[in-house]
Amino acid sequence: MYNSRIVGLGKYLPDNIVTNNDLAEKMDTSDAWIQERTGIKERRHIVKGQGDTTASMGVAAARIAIKRAGLQPQDIDMILFATLSPDYYFPGSGVIVQELLDIPTCPAMDIRNQCSGFVYGLATADQFIKSGMYKNVLVIGSENHSGGLDFTTRGRGVSVIFGDGAGAAVLTREEDNKKGVLSSHLHSEGKFAEELSLIGPSTNRWVPEILEANDPEDVSYYPYMNGQLVFKNAVVRFSEVIMEGLTQNNLGPDAIDMLVPHQANLRISQFVQKKFGLTDDQVYNNIQRYGNTTAGSIPIALTEAWEEGKIKSGDLVVLAAFGSGFTWGSSIIRW
Ligand code: UT7
Repeated sequence: MYNSRIVGLGKYLPDNIVTNNDLAEKMDTSDAWIQERTGIKERRHIVKGQGDTTASMGVAAARIAIKRAGLQPQDIDMILFATLSPDYYFPGSGVIVQELLDIPTCPAMDIRNQCSGFVYGLATADQFIKSGMYKNVLVIGSENHSGGLDFTTRGRGVSVIFGDGAGAAVLTREEDNKKGVLSSHLHSEGKFAEELSLIGPSTNRWVPEILEANDPEDVSYYPYMNGQLVFKNAVVRFSEVIMEGLTQNNLGPDAIDMLVPHQANLRISQFVQKKFGLTDDQVYNNIQRYGNTTAGSIPIALTEAWEEGKIKSGDLVVLAAFGSGFTWGSSIIRW
């Protein structure tokens, strides 16, 4: 059995910065409300028609990650693409990445686990590498939220939170089983499936049905979030799944060098930081600049933490996520 190790990280954010005040021009919200409730100051939005898509942003992040890994795209044995906002309903965006990276053929698989998508992707990559089936696996998290949000006052509880962007990691085979991904911990609780969801269009609620109903109140084609319920579950599950990972490795919270939480809400990260007695330097947050980029959030934050020299060889790095499904998970990594 091998271990897997992250050997390259990359990120891509669209240039277009949208501040809270920009949003306040479109809906009844304010910079003060958004900052106080979420910590977000600004986020990036794709400018439609200027070339950025979920797949293309993923490719831009992946090219950087592959280069930093000292590899060529053709060295990638498998692509795992986590998103809730794929370019098409089908096929998934992984195959578009394979084509844009000019990899002749390789397995490409989309992961549908929303905010936990990157942690699920990392766990899947780790298993394929551990088994010896593949050596180099590319994991991407990318989202184009702005293409599908309601930017009227009706949608303000959701649309001020989410931003666009992508992050990527290359994992490779590691012979030393004390290094790399030490363990992954994944969960779901489908009874809450509709509490953070986009119901239509879907095979249960197909476009002709929505059009035929012609109901101005029916906005099932926009995301819905029961914010308070999600928040309450998030703080519990984040804490549980981090502790589960530490315990499996016979470690305590004091062993954490860097926690990179999914960037859902600064208040959630601060709650978890306090719970585990971590300092500001031990928790990486960038939601202030990018909002919540769902599957993109952990790989973007991990890339930035690494670029800023905050993650060093030998560090214990913990990733943790919670979101739609509900799904949640953690990765315990010895860098
Ligand atoms: O990444 C996936 C996981 N997602 C999360 O973890 C998100 C978890 N939830 C949250 O982060 C928070 O629940 C939100 C930031 C979404 C909302 O914050 P909240 O403190 O839970 O606010 P609320 O939903 O209870 O709404 C409070 C008030 C309401 O007005 P009334 O009913 O008290 O008059 C809302 O209508 O704030 C109003 N409101 C807004 N006001 C100004 C909701 N959105 C906005 C807004 N601007 N954008």
